[in-house]
Amino acid sequence: MVKICCIGAGYVGGPTMAVIALKCPDIEVAVVDISVSRINAWNSDQLPIYEPGLDDVVKQRRGKNLFFSTDVERHVMEADIVFVSVNTPTKTQGLGAGKAADLTYWESAARMIADVSKSDKIVVEKSTVPVKTAEAIEKILTHNSKGINFQILSNPEFLAEGTAIEDLFSPDRVLIGGRETPAGQKAIQALKEVYAHWVPEERIICSNLWSAELSKLAANAFLAQRISSVNAISALCEATGANVTEVAHAVGKDTRIGPKFLNASVGFGGSCFQKDILNLVYICECNGLPEVANYWKQVIKINDYQKSRFVNRVVSSMFNTVSGKKIAILGFAFKKDTGDTRETPAIDVCKGLLGDKARLSIYDPQVSEDQIQRDLSMKKFDWDHPIHLQPQSPTAVKQVGVVWDAYEATKGAHGICILTEWDEFKSLDYKKIYDQMQKPAFVFDGRNVVDAEKLRQIGFIVYSIGKPLDEWLKDMPAVA
Ligand code: UDX
Ligand code: UDX
Repeated sequence: MVKICCIGAGYVGGPTMAVIALKCPDIEVAVVDISVSRINAWNSDQLPIYEPGLDDVVKQRRGKNLFFSTDVERHVMEADIVFVSVNTPTKTQGLGAGKAADLTYWESAARMIADVSKSDKIVVEKSTVPVKTAEAIEKILTHNSKGINFQILSNPEFLAEGTAIEDLFSPDRVLIGGRETPAGQKAIQALKEVYAHWVPEERIICSNLWSAELSKLAANAFLAQRISSVNAISALCEATGANVTEVAHAVGKDTRIGPKFLNASVGFGGSCFQKDILNLVYICECNGLPEVANYWKQVIKINDYQKSRFVNRVVSSMFNTVSGKKIAILGFAFKKDTGDTRETPAIDVCKGLLGDKARLSIYDPQVSEDQIQRDLSMKKFDWDHPIHLQPQSPTAVKQVGVVWDAYEATKGAHGICILTEWDEFKSLDYKKIYDQMQKPAFVFDGRNVVDAEKLRQIGFIVYSIGKPLDEWLKDMPAVA
């Protein structure tokens, strides 16, 4: 029986391994993690992450050919294939600070693998890593190998949160990169056979190591670039009276462009986009390609611009000050149907409003008060460390209240900011909300989820990203 071990029981490692176990009953899969609480949660009825369909997959295979354990070394030693899916935070100090990936966790995983191995192994990069990480890992492994043969593969994950199980069941493609040597090709073949249990052969792409590593960064950069493109156009739409939804629809009808990922928003978030682009930028700079680096940097700059533009719009509409005013924040997660807040645009928007001395009342159906407080007091990039190694937040942010209901959040508020596109925000009783707000009552829709016309009829002043402006807002121009 082939044995697989995955180091890192996170958003990527957990669902990916659960699906491999489901589709390959002849393979034994162990998911290991240094976090005891995470592993305990994977072994309980309350899994540590929420993904539609995940519970079902885990229930079917757990205890049969799917195991969650903190006994990292034993499972690594026994495995034929070791996936590594540990955190790769952005460095905050030293060389490449603010851009380069911090490979501390990866490196210690590699050293541990070399240390405990007694048989040949295939080591698979699953975390997104800068191009040529495999080479560094290979060196660590071979210099410590005691005669054991290690083959390194890059097998980046393309799943999106909220659709992880669906994405894993029928991926657009599986990408496997390896060395162009006979041993490298044999390793590629071995991993290909795992996926071939359920993925059609023509969707399994094999390449060299660097192509696979770079493809992951490039894919995320292209996706993020589409959002920054449509967000850049949204600013122009507001200035000219065009409607970004109509423009995106018309543009996306061109089959060469396609309709997906063209929703204007308050900005993209999530654990990958910004981090991967920063990585890409750093690699370009290191390779003496400043023009290419600047090109990609612009995708992040537009994203930052979009968030500060939104904050400026809120402040300028409300007579240039939100000091002491209650602002309701509806939605904090980086997108709907997840409780994940990593790099969510809500963090920057909230910080921006707090910088102008607003009082915030935040409601998100999936995010806890503890998480929100932690996010608002944490330093940039600190989120991407194993949870028990994250710096503790010093003090709770006083001007922030977190409530469990949209009506409570909006009671007595001067304005509402919608920052996540939760479906429930479409069907709130906005008349009831209007009646209990201060007047004039504002709605700033950062996700284009509400029916602006209906809200205007109730009496709200409404701002929707990239849509023609209300007379009120035209008189109060926002300067970014
Ligand atoms: C994502 C990305 O896919 C990855 O590229 C990025 O580097 C981190 O974020 P994800 O699975 O979402 O991966 O991360 P996370 O949920 O934080 O899981 C990583 C897990 O690795 C954590 O549970 C952590 O405890 C574990 N870990 C970390 C170890 O087991 N050992 C370590 O040395 C470090
Ligand atoms: C992304 C990639 O899609 C996935 O392939 C990769 O493996 C990891 O990174 P994820 O971070 O889960 O997945 O979320 P995604 O659905 O891509 O959304 C990212 C951000 O972009 C969210 O904040 C979302 O709200 C925003 N977004 C997305 C837009 O603002 N407009 C869009 O049209 C699409």
